[in-house]
Amino acid sequence: MATTLTEIAPDLFRISTYVPEAGIQFNQFLIRDDEPLLFETGYRSMFEVVREQVARVLDPSTVRWIGFSHFEGDECGALNEWLQVAPAAQAVCSLVGAVTSVEDFAIRPPRAMQHDEVLPTGRYRFRFRQTPHVPHCWDAGLMFEEVHRTLLASDLFYHDGDVEPIMQGDLVGRTQRALGEFTSGPLAVPIPYTQDTERILHGLADLEPRTIATHHGSAFAGDGRQALRDLVLAIKEVGRWVEVPGPAVQSPEELKGAPDALPSDAIDLGDAPGPEGGER
Ligand SMILES: [Fe+2]
Ligand SMILES: [Fe+2]
Repeated sequence: MATTLTEIAPDLFRISTYVPEAGIQFNQFLIRDDEPLLFETGYRSMFEVVREQVARVLDPSTVRWIGFSHFEGDECGALNEWLQVAPAAQAVCSLVGAVTSVEDFAIRPPRAMQHDEVLPTGRYRFRFRQTPHVPHCWDAGLMFEEVHRTLLASDLFYHDGDVEPIMQGDLVGRTQRALGEFTSGPLAVPIPYTQDTERILHGLADLEPRTIATHHGSAFAGDGRQALRDLVLAIKEVGRWVEVPGPAVQSPEELKGAPDALPSDAIDLGDAPGPEGGER
């Protein structure tokens, strides 16, 4: 695994690790400010490589805020490692995330954000948007850096490959192709289309991002408003189950190498469905 560090906006660094077994990048974003913020930690197994890259920018022990969209391993799996290495650090997440998972999981209490609440970190400020099921999970939220207009987009605009750090052009086309690979099987529908999806994405579009910091794939520089509005149709096309429950999987090992496969053997994928896919 090779890990790269790229400043994609002033004081905003993209830390990216390409995992060949999964065919995707796992990105974290570091904001250099009076109160440094790390958005997404990566898996617990990635902690050391991410910490090394953070140390190229600032002292990792000074990280103050650890934000993420939703409670999943690649979003916040290394949260407690960060809380140990940075004594003043605090998780910052949605209220739903705090009460359902983070207050129990984290070794120190999180800061639960309200919808549209703003977190100032010094020169920069981060608006929190509650975005249930966008990209997925009911605890989902996103942060928007208002000074340089960067949306920390989590799994929105997911695309695969060992791609360039920052791109212009057809981001939604890449996402549409990648999501199309998920239309059946146990990992189908990574981004659901709900009755609120359009409203939430249009609300994010109205923030008019100039940079979109994507958790898997290239960051995007350009018309974020248009990209978010175009994303509505891309998700609508593939955001519903087309076959339930999908092909039977005999073993979690079969999921390795699938589009959203996980990079570490240490990660427990849980029980596989039965032969008919109906029992868990
Ligand atoms: Fe996710
Ligand atoms: Fe993810």
